[in-house]
Amino acid sequence: MLSLVALSLLVTAVRGAVGGAQRFISADREGTLRAVSGALAASYPAYNLTIPIDHFKNSSRYEPHSDGTFNNRYWFDASHYKPGGPVILFMAGEASGDYRFPLLDKGIMYQLASAHNGIGVILEHRYYGTSFPFKNIATADARFLTTEQSLADAAYFARNVKFPELESQNLTSSNAPWIVYGVSYSGGQSAFLRKLYPDVFWGGISSSGVTEAIIDFWQYFEPVRKYGPADCIWTQQFITDVVDKIFIDSKNATLKGQFKTFFNYDTTAIDQNFVSTLYSGLYSWQSRNWDSSIGSGTFSNWCKTITSSKLQYSSSTATNASAAAILKATGYGGNSTLTLRLLNYAGYLQRSARRDVNSLDRFISASSPAPRSVSSAKAAVPAAQFDSWGYQTCTEWGYWVTGSGFDSSLGKPLLSRILDLKFENSYCASEFGITASPNVTQVNKYGGFDISYPRLAIINGLADVWREATPAAAARSRPSTVSEPWIVIDNPPEDVWDGLRGAGHHWEANGATANQTPKPPKAIAAAQADIVSFVGTWIQQWKDARGRAEGREK
Ligand SMILES: *[C@@H]1O[C@H](CO)[C@@H](O)[C@H](O)[C@H]1NC(C)=O
Ligand SMILES: *[C@@H]1O[C@H](CO)[C@@H](O)[C@H](O)[C@H]1NC(C)=O
Ligand SMILES: *[C@@H]1O[C@H](CO)[C@@H](O)[C@H](O)[C@H]1NC(C)=O
Ligand SMILES: *[C@@H]1O[C@H](CO)[C@@H](O)[C@H](O)[C@H]1NC(C)=O
Ligand SMILES: *[C@@H]1O[C@H](CO)[C@@H](O)[C@H](O)[C@H]1NC(C)=O
Ligand SMILES: *[C@@H]1O[C@H](CO)[C@@H](O)[C@H](O)[C@H]1NC(C)=O
Ligand SMILES: *[C@@H]1O[C@H](CO)[C@@H](O)[C@H](O)[C@H]1NC(C)=O
Repeated sequence: MLSLVALSLLVTAVRGAVGGAQRFISADREGTLRAVSGALAASYPAYNLTIPIDHFKNSSRYEPHSDGTFNNRYWFDASHYKPGGPVILFMAGEASGDYRFPLLDKGIMYQLASAHNGIGVILEHRYYGTSFPFKNIATADARFLTTEQSLADAAYFARNVKFPELESQNLTSSNAPWIVYGVSYSGGQSAFLRKLYPDVFWGGISSSGVTEAIIDFWQYFEPVRKYGPADCIWTQQFITDVVDKIFIDSKNATLKGQFKTFFNYDTTAIDQNFVSTLYSGLYSWQSRNWDSSIGSGTFSNWCKTITSSKLQYSSSTATNASAAAILKATGYGGNSTLTLRLLNYAGYLQRSARRDVNSLDRFISASSPAPRSVSSAKAAVPAAQFDSWGYQTCTEWGYWVTGSGFDSSLGKPLLSRILDLKFENSYCASEFGITASPNVTQVNKYGGFDISYPRLAIINGLADVWREATPAAAARSRPSTVSEPWIVIDNPPEDVWDGLRGAGHHWEANGATANQTPKPPKAIAAAQADIVSFVGTWIQQWKDARGRAEGREK
């Protein structure tokens, strides 16, 4: 018998594939991060600070209120610390905080702490890792999982923490300069923290920081469309056009079935489930990194495969005939280059790790695809099984990547238009019983694309898929100053092992140890040096301000 646990894991896997993009950490990268961090676990013991579950007792949003507390996990590295040094706080964001150890070991946290004699700290986000307020979580128990409560945790932490073995030092935010660093979702948070709690956080760095919550985030693939290899992007647009002609325009069930069979799916597979599995190559862009030991090579392998002028996988006469018929029916008939590309595209997907999705889809389509009832969707699950980021997208953040939202005046979409908002966010109802749209105003009220503040740095990668949710969206630009640094990292293709232009998602956060190759590309190293330098100026400003204040007191 298929156990319920196994089933729910599989469903998560499928949802990961379906709503893959709204996750900042993709499944393949999560495995790598877990392995790399696991090797460092012994170096960084975990601690907890007791923090109130509910920081907003006067807000009806959190009724019924809680007087309880929870254990908020954190780690720190004081090996570079000298009295007077800063506290550099890294917001761990939407994952177990221990995935971030490499930052302390060799990444930007190491670089900042060692340059400025600081303490590097990682603070886990509530409802992730072990920092859950409840053992079991039903949808109603997740009401304290909001951006503002999490920001208040960080402020509470900075005001109250006593670092073990450093108890003799007062390192709270009233006595030491606190600099908050975050990437992606937590990059948005670090910008908000600097603006909302300027007396607690002396400076903030928002790296690939998503400061604008967006419901239909079709722009996710815009950087890929612009900076991906032209022939590869063209091929993806061609395949998507074939898909749209079959699944939207033709209404020909036989043709749909023929296409599914060509990809080795049951003809009964639900159209949108099936189509959503065709994009694993495209989605792998986010997992690229200048560092080949953690970055994925999937994107370039996939591009090479689908643009190859040779057949990459054996193909029978029947499969060939099927490819030819599909292309003929969609207006691309009689072109051997296109037939070859379709064959290689399908071959790649069948031979990459799509089997699990394939068999699950058969399982779903063969049994009832009906969503769970609202009451069962709202029922409690053990904390570790609760999909915290899924809940945050359903309530505040959105970020559903659709093909339907694509602005056709820009050209041809990469993603099929059958992948629409209703499909992409359908799990909010089936997983949490949530049917209302996320209230993005809860996030965007902090400033969105236009957020700015003295001593708030905005760092981005030219080709980051999340860029269109950051202050650098739509090619916005600002002058860069020491007070408000603005960096968009643009490394030339030859500086990165997979030969593509432009930095990706928070690439400057990662570093290399002395004997590790590759080293950060020049543009990454330059950004890191800039960050170390302006943070140095900020710390000096804190010391100067402190000196003046003490002068007045005398
Ligand atoms: C921190 O709190 C978690 C959750 O309550 C607990 O499992 C863990 O043992 C605690 N760790 C320490 C070091 O106290
Ligand atoms: C509610 O509490 C917060 C945090 O303590 C405070 O900043 C805010 O002013 C309060 N709002 C009202 C309406 O009392
Ligand atoms: C640290 O110093 C601040 C002000 O200088 C004081 O308010 C606070 O109570 C001190 N905290 C600890 C833990 O000693
Ligand atoms: C539907 O597609 C099938 C398979 O490609 C084709 O044989 C058939 O002629 C099409 N039907 C119509 C009405 O176009
Ligand atoms: C199928 O088509 C490909 C590409 O045109 C060709 O290389 C291959 O030999 C064909 N296979 C068979 C069995 O005809
Ligand atoms: C096949 O299609 C490609 C892409 O549109 C085009 O460049 C090429 O000229 C076509 N070949 C033939 C023989 O029509
Ligand atoms: C959405 O959030 C805003 C900002 O906090 C709030 O004013 C508004 O009432 C919320 N809307 C709903 C429907 O809850």
